[in-house]
Amino acid sequence: MSAKNEILVGLDIGTTKTTAIVGEVTENGIDIIGIGTSPSKEMRKGAVVNIDNMVEAIKTAVDEAEHMSGCRINSVYVGIAGNHVKGQNSLGIVSIKGREVDEDDVQRAIEASRAIAVPVDREIMHILPQNYVVDGQDGIKDPKGMSGVRLEAKVHIVTAASSAIQNIIKSVNRVGLDIDDIVMEQLAATEAVLSLDEKDLGVALIDIGGANTSIAIYAEGSIKHTAILPLGGNYITSDIATGLRTPLNDAEEIKLKYGCALTSMISKEETIRVPSVGGREDREVSRQILGRVIEPRIEEILSFAFKEIVRSGFEDLLAAGVVLTGGTALLPGIVELAEQVFDMPARRANPTGVGGLTDVVNSPAHSVGVGLIVYGSKQMEGASVYGKKINILGRIFRSFKKWILDFF
Ligand SMILES: Nc1ncnc2c1ncn2[C@@H]1O[C@H](COP(=O)(O)OP(=O)(O)OP(=O)(O)O)[C@@H](O)[C@H]1O
Ligand SMILES: [Mg+2]
Repeated sequence: MSAKNEILVGLDIGTTKTTAIVGEVTENGIDIIGIGTSPSKEMRKGAVVNIDNMVEAIKTAVDEAEHMSGCRINSVYVGIAGNHVKGQNSLGIVSIKGREVDEDDVQRAIEASRAIAVPVDREIMHILPQNYVVDGQDGIKDPKGMSGVRLEAKVHIVTAASSAIQNIIKSVNRVGLDIDDIVMEQLAATEAVLSLDEKDLGVALIDIGGANTSIAIYAEGSIKHTAILPLGGNYITSDIATGLRTPLNDAEEIKLKYGCALTSMISKEETIRVPSVGGREDREVSRQILGRVIEPRIEEILSFAFKEIVRSGFEDLLAAGVVLTGGTALLPGIVELAEQVFDMPARRANPTGVGGLTDVVNSPAHSVGVGLIVYGSKQMEGASVYGKKINILGRIFRSFKKWILDFF
């Protein structure tokens, strides 16, 4: 690590909860030292509906995280999701005039890959190098020192709606914080849950949250495909509320306590108490009936994720199978159901690779928050070109906020 005991904060603004996680980067790695969470209100499909609610949620989460860690938080790595976030592969080609490839050539080739048509209302968030081609020889991880006349960089480019980026910057700045970088959520999650072996062998990360299911496919050690589907655990809660005729809050509680993604795993004798609406008496309902409401919905989410993977063309490269994370991955039976749907090995993943208060982040729901810190620590080691760009924007909004406060 280039700096010792740096404090990095991951801010995951999810559709169901906003979480700030504080990590301390030591010479031995990252220690988690604090966490704060606030339920998100009025967030739909990853898009901010109400800035005031978002600001309030960020403030609550950050205050709590500051309190627990005993650290003052000045800046954060923020996750971005929603179906406006899109990934696509691109190619950058440069001439190297028959000499050895150097770092400059690599940067020029990556820069050249930016030449894709980006609509005016969208911005490039990430340019993620996959591999390089020198004079037609493909699959090169590091082309530096090779001789040739033509260098191609294969990259994965992530773009997002400018309005969503501006909303994030505005909300974070209104809490008085700077932004270190804005990171595609599933990219952050991969940092916390995938092993290098899985990335080499080929793996699909599937983060099933409240309103979004985010997918990232790795093969041959680099990111190949990303996608976000507007599906998640909140729909299961609505189905339970409708199917068992019970209020939404009770449906959510029932899902967390008794939910199961595979009806065949539930014994016939088990029953649960279901509150009724309109002051009627609670009812005893077979837990299998609850399973029959949940199973088709989870199967549908997993099937859409599978279709997306098939569409990407990388289905046959996933020797390490699928890794499920996000709050909805906590549902018992979901791993078994995923193995049936994908016909591949599956596992449930909590964030790993960090020390300190690991118990407070030991849930698939914290993969993005922890992953943002890991992502940040890697950027400390290298250049954070895009972080700096956002940071400048952040400062503009910060001074704007100060100007408003001074004015009124
Ligand atoms: N033990 C559990 N069993 C089943 N579902 C659960 C459990 N715990 C949380 N969930 C569900 O997980 C979802 C929230 O997951 P998560 O915290 O990853 O979402 P989020 O990051 O806020 O949302 P998104 O990523 O979609 O913006 C909710 O639908 C919640 O009901
Ligand atoms: Mg999430």
